[in-house]
Amino acid sequence: MEKRTTSGQKMLLTKLHLNKKIFILALSFSLLSPAYVYTTPIYSIIKDYSPAQKEIAKSKNGMITTQHFIATEVGEKILSKGGNAFDASIAISFTLAVVLPRAGNIGGGGFMVMYDIDSQKSYSIDYREKAPKLASRDMYLDKNGSFNKQKLSTFGYLSSGVPGTVAGLWEVHQKFGSLPWEELLEDAINYAENGFKVTPFMSDVLRAYNKKLSFYDETKNIFQKDYPDFKKDLIQKDLANTLKIISIEGKDGFYKGEIAKKIAISMEENGGLISQYDLENYKAVWREPLKSKYRNLELITMGPPSSGGVHIIQMLNILENYDLQSLGHNSSKYINLLAETMKYAYADRSKYLGDPDFYNVPIKSLTSESYAKNISNNIELGSLVESSDINPGMYIDNESHETTHFSVADKYGNVVSSTYTLNSTFGSGVVIEGTGILMNNEMDDFSAAPGIPNQFGLLGAKANEIAPYKRPLSSMTPTIIMKDNELFLTTGSPGGARIISAVLQSILNIVDFEMDLEEATFAKRIHHQWQPDVLEMEFFIDDNLKNELQEIGYKLKVTNPLTCIQTIMYRNNSFYGYGDFRRPDAFASGEIND
Ligand code: DON
Repeated sequence: MEKRTTSGQKMLLTKLHLNKKIFILALSFSLLSPAYVYTTPIYSIIKDYSPAQKEIAKSKNGMITTQHFIATEVGEKILSKGGNAFDASIAISFTLAVVLPRAGNIGGGGFMVMYDIDSQKSYSIDYREKAPKLASRDMYLDKNGSFNKQKLSTFGYLSSGVPGTVAGLWEVHQKFGSLPWEELLEDAINYAENGFKVTPFMSDVLRAYNKKLSFYDETKNIFQKDYPDFKKDLIQKDLANTLKIISIEGKDGFYKGEIAKKIAISMEENGGLISQYDLENYKAVWREPLKSKYRNLELITMGPPSSGGVHIIQMLNILENYDLQSLGHNSSKYINLLAETMKYAYADRSKYLGDPDFYNVPIKSLTSESYAKNISNNIELGSLVESSDINPGMYIDNESHETTHFSVADKYGNVVSSTYTLNSTFGSGVVIEGTGILMNNEMDDFSAAPGIPNQFGLLGAKANEIAPYKRPLSSMTPTIIMKDNELFLTTGSPGGARIISAVLQSILNIVDFEMDLEEATFAKRIHHQWQPDVLEMEFFIDDNLKNELQEIGYKLKVTNPLTCIQTIMYRNNSFYGYGDFRRPDAFASGEIND
């Protein structure tokens, strides 16, 4: 590895061989790109953001990394008071719902993977949104059976699934919380009620989403009242009231009573499907986390209805057959190997992954070492297999298939890796009248029509077709890695389909290439998701590499950075954290009292 001698910002510029202007241009393009990159033009506001993270954070008392420095500070406060990582995660989640409205939420859902030091066991909770009772397989198809063009699965009332966030956080508190629930909502309520400073980045995001956030008056009055200059603090009074109700009444404050009624009425009046019955019957589910070994490490990650864990394990199983360091980081050979590996994994995802309560996901076969070996035997470096020649599951043995991430580690040994989302940036664009709740558009994560890719270009099949009460397939990949019963690292990312490939590379960068957190964050990420048959690389591709990859046969595309890795490492009794510059407000810190 080349030795790093410069600060993060400088290293970025030299590592990417970019002059500052081009870098800022690329970064601005990406940061302001709506999550539905396939359908919406990219905004080209050029702005010099100064990422909150200046250097690797180090602490002996725990570590927090989130996509907004205010949420990180709230987490530090909770840990300083003697709360544990679970308490901090609940407070962070509610705070992100206020200060990061593009993804943080109480109107969405997610997954949390945890390590509890008392029981020395790992846990995972699924608080993914569910399809409402009245949802049906063909609800987004028109009379002729073709996928409707009105974007009903991505925008407006019909795009929302029944939210799971409050139920998930409540469950985590019931099981592991040590501080009173009300105390964990105090800061979020305060920031909603009294406002917080809009950062230059957030200001540009709000400006870039003017159209989406202006369609419904309720949304516009909250998020666009200061358009085009968001210089005033953002105050969300209705959200503060909703959070107060949740603070007093707990989970029922959201799923029963006044708030539930408002959601149901609003849905009914505007063509949405979520009813009071749906809300009252929503349950978060504790699921066995997926576990596997990679080299000498123990991986703990999320199982279905997220596809993330299955495919991280599958890809690491394939890659374990290689000495990656000898190939050279981001060399054409290394990228060739990663791309081929990703193609097989994403092909399987399209067919075999869905809600395990509805579909028997062949987790064992997909994550078996023999299957991985069969795939690696068919990868020949220096050449490729066309995506059209890769079929899901082709090497399974017959006998036996805007989102935000945060990580928290406390001094006691508890670890939380959490990814939750509204799906697209600002979800469905709908704020439920009088509640301040921004609703998700998670229904788009179902395969709404056979052969039609969703907003992330992902294809799906029967396993992920819409059904009442079903959870849409996710790519969210909150992951914890342990070594000799101690935390080694915890990581995760937003980025839709690209989450899985980003998490994979964040693990490989640290484990196989021995990078520190800054180097691992600055390393360029590649992505291939089988269909479309395109190899993506962030920022730019230099000419030599381009020629080598094209010679192998890859169709190349330079993309905006769409992921944002939040990793914590633990080495020699110290925690290290780094907030990914790709979302400049991201921040890791461990200023925690003894
Ligand atoms: O669950 C999923 O995989 C998607 N709803 C995640 C969306 C996402 O990451 C958008 N973020 N940039």
